[in-house]
Amino acid sequence: MEKLALLGGKPVRDIRVNPWPKWPVWDQNEEKALIETLNSGIWSYNGPMETEFNRRFAEFTGTKYAISAANGTVTLQMALEACAIGVGDEVILPGLTWQATAATIIDVNATPVLVDVCEDNWCIDPKAIENAITPRTKAIIPVHLYGSFCDMDEILKIASKHHLYIIEDCAHKHGGEWNGLKAGSIGNIGSFSFQLSKLLTAGEGGALTTNDFKLAERLDALRNCGRRPIEMKKAVDKYVDKGAGVYSDQGNFLQSGNYRITEFQAALLIEGLKRLPEQNRVRDENGIYMNSLLAAIPGVTPMKRDKRETREAYYNFSFRYKQNEFKGLAVSKFREALTAESGIQVSPSYEPLNNCSLYVPLTKPARHKLNDKYWKGIDPKRFRLPVCDRIYHEESICIHHKVLMGIKADLELIAAAIFKIYDNAESLLK
Ligand SMILES: Cc1ncc(COP(=O)(O)O)c(C=O)c1O
Repeated sequence: MEKLALLGGKPVRDIRVNPWPKWPVWDQNEEKALIETLNSGIWSYNGPMETEFNRRFAEFTGTKYAISAANGTVTLQMALEACAIGVGDEVILPGLTWQATAATIIDVNATPVLVDVCEDNWCIDPKAIENAITPRTKAIIPVHLYGSFCDMDEILKIASKHHLYIIEDCAHKHGGEWNGLKAGSIGNIGSFSFQLSKLLTAGEGGALTTNDFKLAERLDALRNCGRRPIEMKKAVDKYVDKGAGVYSDQGNFLQSGNYRITEFQAALLIEGLKRLPEQNRVRDENGIYMNSLLAAIPGVTPMKRDKRETREAYYNFSFRYKQNEFKGLAVSKFREALTAESGIQVSPSYEPLNNCSLYVPLTKPARHKLNDKYWKGIDPKRFRLPVCDRIYHEESICIHHKVLMGIKADLELIAAAIFKIYDNAESLLK
């Protein structure tokens, strides 16, 4: 029997001699762009970096308009507000996502309706969406989770049948494609995060994408203290298609806050975006290879990849674990063992939002207790999410996307580490 690293044995990968690829990635181009921004004295507010990044990100996502903002939480909130979603409205979202997807719905005084996900890709289950629709439903927020894509064909059908908005949460999916269409270009609005762990990052940041001029105009105002597009006109005139640009609301201000990005963030994003297509290509190729290795290992199941996912983008590489095939070894112990063998952090999925320590809507009555009915409606404990629960408690294995940024031999070591744990699972049961 080989001694597992968790029990003091030699790890499969010694990261002191063979470290994992680093994240984030930067070089002299970022340094130069940051120094140039510093010396320009233009550090924020519709500056040249922000304008240029918006233009490039719209082009990258295949949308007409991209509007950058402070982070991927406020982008969701602005998307809801731009669709005029608020008091009395319901928004359907998956129970397996980061807390912000639901929290922002409460922040616009609407009701988040949590539904279950598909067990083979962990994304929102279209059947569960249908079952949750009521006359108050206004929107669906599909979250393209980790390395998976929501079934956008089904979601588009449901949305069109019930006249619902689709706000794609693309925080994990910069550059992913469904049937050749980029994430963020399929629904009415796409919402992106550029937080440090994301596929495109400026430390913090976010962006909204849309093909709808009216929505773009509102989003632009919402991120900029409600200022109407006379500012947007100056900033985006270069790339708005001229026919669409009727600036009818000039001069009318909206109630909003300051969700602007800085020029330093935009400078980093311009450089990061240049690398992203090649990084995505490498991750996609390595993801396919890793899945082929997993398919040959007992006790683990690769995530399902739909053939309509023409380009995958991986925020995390994830797969499914079967405890009974590892002699009853709990998934938490398996994750610890794989972390020790591989030298890369192995984590569970998000906690399902009906029981998530960071999603606690009933803790701010001064802000959210509009009335007793609403208060009951936002209690997440009223939702049953058996698939989300099983994924979180029994099955989920998630590894940061940098695991896919190296060479194939890296992935063979991960596979070797899983085999080693499989062969020696008994030693961890004692
Ligand atoms: C699915 C999802 N949506 C939204 C967000 C919020 O993004 P941010 O951290 O930029 O506010 C995140 C961040 O992790 C996320 O994972």
